[in-house]
Amino acid sequence: MVRYPFRSIVITGASSGIGRALALELADEKVVLGLAGRNGERLMAVRSACEAAGATVVAETFDVAERDAVRSFVQTVEQRSPVDLVIANAGVFGMVSDGGLLEAPDRVAAMVETNIMGVFATVEAALSVMVPRGGGHLAIMASMSAITPLPHAPVYSATKAAVKAYGEALRPRLAEAGIATSVIVPGFVDTPMDRSHPSPKPLRMSAEKSARIILRGLVRKKAFIGFPWPLYGGAILASRAPVFLRDRIMKRMQRLPAGKRR
Ligand SMILES: NC(=O)c1ccc[n+]([C@@H]2O[C@H](COP(=O)([O-])OP(=O)(O)OC[C@H]3O[C@@H](n4cnc5c(N)ncnc54)[C@H](OP(=O)(O)O)[C@@H]3O)[C@@H](O)[C@H]2O)c1
Repeated sequence: MVRYPFRSIVITGASSGIGRALALELADEKVVLGLAGRNGERLMAVRSACEAAGATVVAETFDVAERDAVRSFVQTVEQRSPVDLVIANAGVFGMVSDGGLLEAPDRVAAMVETNIMGVFATVEAALSVMVPRGGGHLAIMASMSAITPLPHAPVYSATKAAVKAYGEALRPRLAEAGIATSVIVPGFVDTPMDRSHPSPKPLRMSAEKSARIILRGLVRKKAFIGFPWPLYGGAILASRAPVFLRDRIMKRMQRLPAGKRR
């Protein structure tokens, strides 16, 4: 069984999908897990599964954009055991409706609040405990759409590009403070979010496999954890292609019209 060097880990968005899979992969008798989400029932189910694997779990429901709630949660976990890894994973998706050009205003607000402000709040909370100790590791969940923005999800793509840039900007100065920063760049991962998203999904993988790839990358303190690698490499190449070619490629990645959905 693979074991990881982390002993006290905070994961936002732990009640579902990738966050849940990360929690279950990390859970053993040596770790303290700080698990956060909004849906209490789902979060408690993850808590029970992690406790059954021997982990000590602190679980709390709050909106990740509420800065005080995030900070107080991270400090509670810190009191149990010094937090050595914070994974800012919570996120929401939205896309344009059939025939539309922009996402609905309420989805725009939710994506900006959760995917950007929620990540900022999580990083601020993490640094409030890591900087005084001069050590720790931050992991920020971006997306391949930060590299090759999705035509059917412009705001989602923009939020992910924002947090990718944020992580890259933080990395050099945090390294001087003894804190590692990783930006996670997944392709398509089979989760409830992904299933709400009717578009072509090349090389989609399970949340469990994704969690193992992410944790291997974190152990190696990789600056970018992009996977699956053929899609990551292809996205980087596509982002450097001439605009006409890039637009043609990305149009093929658009949400499928009703009737052609899988
Ligand atoms: N799945 C993919 O293909 C994919 C690809 C690239 C990047 N990502 C990113 O990976 C992350 C996890 O996504 P997922 O696919 O695992 O989705 P998911 O299954 O829908 O899980 C999202 C998690 O975020 C939590 N969350 C959402 N809004 C929140 C808020 N305002 N406050 C607190 N928690 C909130 C959810 O909590 P509740 O369950 O309690 O609502 C849930 O635990 C996201 O940042 C997503 O953008 C996913």
